[in-house]
Amino acid sequence: MLRDRSAGSAQVQPTTPLPAHGVRFTTPVVETPGIVIVSRWVYRLLRLVVLTPVRFPIATALLSTGAMVVSVWGWIPLAAGILLAGVGLGVWWWYWPAVFHRLVVLRSLACWRWLWVYRRHWQPVLVVAGLAESYQERHYLPRIKTVSCTAWADRVRITLVQGTTPRDLEDRVTELAHGFQAPSCRVYTRGPRDVVLEFPRRDLLANPLPARPVPDQVDMAALEVGLCEDGTPWDLRLHGTHVLTVGVTGSGKGSVLWSAIRAMTPAMVAGTAQVWAIDPKRMELSYGRSLFARYADTAEAAVDVLEAAVSEMHARADRYAGIRRTHTPTVEDPFMLVVLDEVAFLTAYHPEKDIRRRAENAIATLTSQGRAVGVCVLAALQDPRKEVMNLRNLFPDKVALRLDEASQVDMVLGDDARERGANAHLIDPNVPGVAFVRMEGSPLPVRVRAAFVSDDDIEAMANEYGTRSLHPVPDVEVA
Ligand SMILES: Nc1ncnc2c1ncn2[C@@H]1O[C@H](COP(=O)(O)OP(=O)(O)O)[C@@H](O)[C@H]1O
Ligand SMILES: [Mg+2]
Repeated sequence: MLRDRSAGSAQVQPTTPLPAHGVRFTTPVVETPGIVIVSRWVYRLLRLVVLTPVRFPIATALLSTGAMVVSVWGWIPLAAGILLAGVGLGVWWWYWPAVFHRLVVLRSLACWRWLWVYRRHWQPVLVVAGLAESYQERHYLPRIKTVSCTAWADRVRITLVQGTTPRDLEDRVTELAHGFQAPSCRVYTRGPRDVVLEFPRRDLLANPLPARPVPDQVDMAALEVGLCEDGTPWDLRLHGTHVLTVGVTGSGKGSVLWSAIRAMTPAMVAGTAQVWAIDPKRMELSYGRSLFARYADTAEAAVDVLEAAVSEMHARADRYAGIRRTHTPTVEDPFMLVVLDEVAFLTAYHPEKDIRRRAENAIATLTSQGRAVGVCVLAALQDPRKEVMNLRNLFPDKVALRLDEASQVDMVLGDDARERGANAHLIDPNVPGVAFVRMEGSPLPVRVRAAFVSDDDIEAMANEYGTRSLHPVPDVEVA
């Protein structure tokens, strides 16, 4: 049934003058017939009745059994049954807590979160986030398929509306996280329209982490330096790679360097590892200098140390040539970690061209040839742009602490890192040590927080291990 909207509104003065020929076109208003509205409500009710047992089979079975028991035997057997079930659940929880947690606690939580958080706020949040229009029918909304809970996060699996892409969600992760009151939101694509949104329930990285305990056994391929956002340890590989830590001043670069050094102290004491430290600002590493096999805090000395590391590396490569292809840390051939704080001071900001050139050459040689012979460079940098540090691609592993600009995220972590949720430029300045990293074997950036090694911790380490870790460094010719 079509009705002219202008009919019956003769007293309303048209705001635009009538065209010369006197005819004005208006949008017709379509009135939905009552029978269609009623049929739709009946259809929705029937769908609810049919789908509820399918969606919640256990709850439906329990409720219908309860109703049957009450109707046949009355309330007392029902109360006894509930008591028995409670005791059964208690026994289950007592003897198999992990299974109970997974099957009962997390599933109940998922039902609750689905109902109370996601289903309830889904449309408003998507509208406000700009992912749906308020006048749209529900079938133009991405549909929630399932909600599941892990120990730390909710995973909302959705089906996208045709014509939209996972990219649209990736562009709105900040709004989605705010909308569902989560510290972050991660988008995992499973198929063209099959997407999982991961919302951590709370931020495990919100509070500073104290320094990790010094381990008994050191694994240079997995040094515990902090925590991942899912609560698992953040293990940093140093052996067989080089690591560049990038972040603005105050972002916590020092905590990454010190956590790595702390995690390898037993190997330094045993003589199977050495740290050669370069600290142009004399602020970061000088405090624990008695731990280091070599230490430099002036540009000239720093370049000498770097060139000595290059000579040692070449000497090793000569000895290994044709005999072995990989390095195993031993007292004769210890793992060498060259720690470089504020590397741009040497490669970009130093006034003497010769110092800059020598430093850059030495770092390029160490990072391109050192891996196989047990030499690793762990460097800290503030500004990742090419004009400041054109060697960044020689570092296979990178840590992106808080960055200045969005464009720097992909410079540090590689193309598409920001699209995949590594919002390092949005890290809160009040949580130093929080960073994004790419773990081995996974393209997805992971949010981590480095443990904070305080001045007291460093002093205690220097007192306990300092002099003992100073193994003689082989005399090498400076190139
Ligand atoms: N992992 C961390 N956890 C908590 N606080 C930290 C952490 N790292 C650094 N901080 C705090 O931030 C300050 C600056 O850290 P620092 O490592 O010196 O930054 P950067 O070397 O990047 O300039 C430290 O003095 C400390 O108070
Ligand atoms: Mg620093």
